[in-house]
Parts: sequence; structure tokens; C-alpha cells
Amino acid sequence: MLKFKENVSLKPYNTFGIEAQTKYFYKATNTLELKEILAKNQNLTFQVLGGGSNVLFTKNYEGITILIANKGIKVLQETPEIVVVEVQSGENWHEFVLWCLNHNYGGVENLALIPGSVGAAPIQNIGAYGVELTSVFKSCKALNIKTLEEEIIVKKDCEFKYRSSIFKTHQKRKYIITSVCFQLQKYPHQLKIEYGALKAEFKNNHLPKIQEVAAAVIKIRESKLPNHKILGNSGSFFKNPLVSMSHYELLKLNYPELPCYRASNEQVKIPAAWLIDQLGLKGTRHGDVGVHKNQALVLVNYGKAKGKEVLDLAKKIQSAVKETFNISLETEVNIL
Ligand code: EPU
Repeated sequence: MLKFKENVSLKPYNTFGIEAQTKYFYKATNTLELKEILAKNQNLTFQVLGGGSNVLFTKNYEGITILIANKGIKVLQETPEIVVVEVQSGENWHEFVLWCLNHNYGGVENLALIPGSVGAAPIQNIGAYGVELTSVFKSCKALNIKTLEEEIIVKKDCEFKYRSSIFKTHQKRKYIITSVCFQLQKYPHQLKIEYGALKAEFKNNHLPKIQEVAAAVIKIRESKLPNHKILGNSGSFFKNPLVSMSHYELLKLNYPELPCYRASNEQVKIPAAWLIDQLGLKGTRHGDVGVHKNQALVLVNYGKAKGKEVLDLAKKIQSAVKETFNISLETEVNIL
């Protein structure tokens, strides 16, 4: 028998710390429960929450909020070089990274301290310090919401791109990811330490161990990004925009310092944080909403911010960036 809670506050379930109520709430600890909820409540709308680290609630929710809370890590295959593990989607991402470090399994050390759950990680192909989830992802199990069958979806069908996958685009709301299979390195470890800030940490070092890479990533993240347990936030609020080479060249005339990363022969990626910073918005505060003082891409909740207020600030930033640089910033965070 399924036990729903009624009129539950979602504040503890989103890293922005925004107050919003859900009419019904269910913590699902296995796939059978999920199937049952979906089968019995076809007439009610639902939303799925993992770690709540990439959402902004702007209003109360009249349907069922399903919290994904299935746990477990299982080794499926092992050779002297690699290991394949299946991780249930309710596992906390950073705890999974720590588990890999404890077992000396390489591949996710650059992704240490990213908030959120394992099941949410493929949705936006989480990434940091030169590594994206796609580099270790093998497949996932996902519950098809219509057929209520679990399907195995392999990497090539996920269409992973920068902060994107089928689960965020054309297959949005078709699946609930229930577990993820990762292929990790036992020996040798393939280190990725070329990213600027990370490289600087190892300039005098021998080849670091994966545990040292993770420690450096944690140090950098802690110095720049606010801890959501202290200051509510959702990490980067916007994606870094891609612009055409000709647009970039034009901007460069007025802003010779403009940083960029080459994305292809035709496009470059520009750090949105730099654009917001140029506009003098870093560290600004309006009531309980603000732009973080160390990272202009992060919007923060100083206490009692409403989702709508965060959204208003985000829209102001988007308009200012559009007006000054003729660049449209896309949100990385899901606005609900
Ligand atoms: N910069 C500024 N002002 C700032 C911050 C950064 O001008 O306030 C400029 C600097 O030139 C810096 C450049 O922006 O060199 C890039 O900054 P940073 O290395 O901090 O990375 P980012 O592009 O702002 C991205 C990800 C982060 C990830 C870091 C590190 C996106 C949207 N964000 O941020 O991911 O941790 O790189 O790899 O791609 C997240 O997705 O939530 C997230 C935190």
C-alpha cells in the first residue's frame, strides 16, 4: 500500500532552499513502487526530484512530487584494467565519487563535490574541470512512463552534449532513470588535469593520484562555489553560450580580454560568468536574491528568497547580456 504525504514543503529537497509546497509527496525506494505510483495515478500530474540541485521552484505544485531514493552500488564486471558498476539513481553523486576514490577506481575524480543524485547526472551530462559524465557512462536503466517497462538505454542513444541529453530534450518526461552503469578505470588511470585552475594545482608535481586530483577539485570548488547548505544555490544558473566565430571576432574588438574556448571550427564557447562579471553584477544583491561574490554564474538565496524573485533576477541578467553582447543566455537550471 502506497503511503503519500500531503501538503509537504519542498524546501529541504532543493539546494536553492526555496519554499514551495507539493500537494502530494512520495519517497520511492525501488522501481516497483515507482511503477505502482504511475499506474495508479494516471490522472494526476507528477514531477520527479533527485538531489534537487538543478531546479528552481517558482510556484506550489498541485500534483505528486516523487523523490527518487533507491540506493545501492553493484559491481557487474571486472578485469585488471576496468570495472563496470551499476549505481541506483537515488545515490548521492559525491558519495559515489568518494566510493570510487576509496576503491581506487578512476574516471570521476574531476566530478567530485557536484551536488545532486546519480540518476540526475546523465540528464544534463554533468561536467567540471574538463570531464563530462559521458566519458564514464555506459548505459542506464530507465522506466518508460507510458509503458511502465524498464528499458536499457546505451550511451550512443543518449545524445550527450554540453549539459544536455535526450532526457532533457526530445525525450523529456518520457523516462525516469532508475540506475546508471559506469565504466571506471582500475589501471592505468587516465588523468585529465589540463583545465586551467586544475593544472595550476599540479605545476610542481609528479603525476598525481586520482585522490589528489579530487582533493584539488574540491579545494577549487570550495574556494569559488558557495556551499548550498550555508547559502542556497543551484550551481551555474546559465549555460556557457556558444557563439559564431564572426560574432566572437566582433566582440573581441570591443572586449580584447574576452575569454573563449573553441567548440568547433565555426563556434566558440564564452564563459557566461565573464559576461555577467563585465556588467558589474557579481556580488550584487536585491533583497534575499543575489549574484555570488566569487562566481558570477551562481545565483544565491540569502534566506527567504522566492523562486519568482530568483527568476526575475535571472531575466534581468539575460536582458542585460543580450543588450550589451547580443548573446542569449540559456538557463542550465530547470524552472518549475
Ligand atoms: N569568470 C569571470 N568571473 C567569474 C567567474 C569566472 O570572469 O565570476 C571567467 C574567468 O575568465 C574564468 C572563466 O570565466 O576563467 C571560467 O570560469 P570557471 O572556470 O569558474 O568555469 P565556468 O565556465 O564559470 C563551468 C561549469 C561549472 C564547472 C566549472 C569548472 C557551466 C555552465 N559551468 O563554469 O559547472 O564547475 O566550469 O569546470 O558549464 C554547474 O554546471 O553547475 C557548474 C558549477
